[in-house]
Amino acid sequence: MTKIVSSWNDWDPLKRVIVGRCDNSVIPPEEPATSEKVPVDSEMRGMWGLRPLETVERGNECLENLVKILEDRGVIVDRPTPLQWNQAIGTPDFRNDSMMTCMPPRDILLTVGNEIMAAANSFRCRYFEYLAYWPLMEQYFEEDPEFKWTQAPRPRLTDKSYKHNYYDEKITLEERLVRTANKDFVTTEVEPMWDAADVMRMGKDLFIQHGLTTNRAAMDWFQRYYPDFRVHAVNFPGDPYPIHIDATFVPLRPGLIINNPHRPLPEEQRAIFEANDWQIVEAAQPAHTEPPALCYSSVWLSMNCLVLDPKTVIVEASEVYQQEQMDKLGMNVIPCDLRDAYPFGGGLHCSTADVYREGDCLDYFP
Ligand code: NVA
Repeated sequence: MTKIVSSWNDWDPLKRVIVGRCDNSVIPPEEPATSEKVPVDSEMRGMWGLRPLETVERGNECLENLVKILEDRGVIVDRPTPLQWNQAIGTPDFRNDSMMTCMPPRDILLTVGNEIMAAANSFRCRYFEYLAYWPLMEQYFEEDPEFKWTQAPRPRLTDKSYKHNYYDEKITLEERLVRTANKDFVTTEVEPMWDAADVMRMGKDLFIQHGLTTNRAAMDWFQRYYPDFRVHAVNFPGDPYPIHIDATFVPLRPGLIINNPHRPLPEEQRAIFEANDWQIVEAAQPAHTEPPALCYSSVWLSMNCLVLDPKTVIVEASEVYQQEQMDKLGMNVIPCDLRDAYPFGGGLHCSTADVYREGDCLDYFP
């Protein structure tokens, strides 16, 4: 019997992983959820269409760098099957002029133990992205008799799923921060919506960021779906665009987390870590002052690292301060040139989805 799928956290020894692909990537047209995510001063506002071919080729080259590092260390790497993403899509509830990409996999696939679940993403352009991973899921299903292949309830994404006129060109950064602090996000609570990259898996505990891509109803859904787990909603009031936890709050090994210094975890939410002797360390400054061109994410992809085991971590090659800090924290650092893949959806952690890590489901917060 082959066991292919099992992973309970982001630090146990990695043995098998999915790495995304940039082929056919599209900057999607604006829609209720995405317009909120594109900063007002971003050069991407108002533009959409296929990404330039040379950037796709360069992005894929970066992902190949990562694949090589992983395979050289004996990690099995699986790849998705990209679709022609520049097609219009429709459901009985909405139409959208195109899809997006199959980068990054971390937003779409959530691995909890022997289960891989496709998420309930709130962007209409990502509604069919899971199809790129279905050939792999079919393979795992055939080869691993214990693999649980799951799809979270599909959100309908009608106009009722979003606050109308929530986005306003004139909104200032300060006003955005007030909204984050008030937990006032673009999505409504009519149905659970979540991106897998908002979920931080720590054995029996799931810490889930409540923000622009994951709503409160999702927390409720998770707690009912995993009754034996503890589900914790976490907020980072310093983040004007709170999406995806992995450039904000990143575990390196049991007992150690790096936290974005601009987005500290509030005091009351730190208590569970402190009570269990976890250290929360401020992440090092990014090496860059700007993200690369046509990139949705912030410079804090510097901390979006891929932990291979509790002593080894892959960090982006140009992020020298983050590498230095990891080294001081006792990690062996493997640099990987990946920055030109950032525009396709993120850094090293984003670009991957766990298939197999050694280890069991432990209770780190008894
Ligand atoms: N909100 C995040 C996304 C990280 C994957 C950032 O850009 O900082």
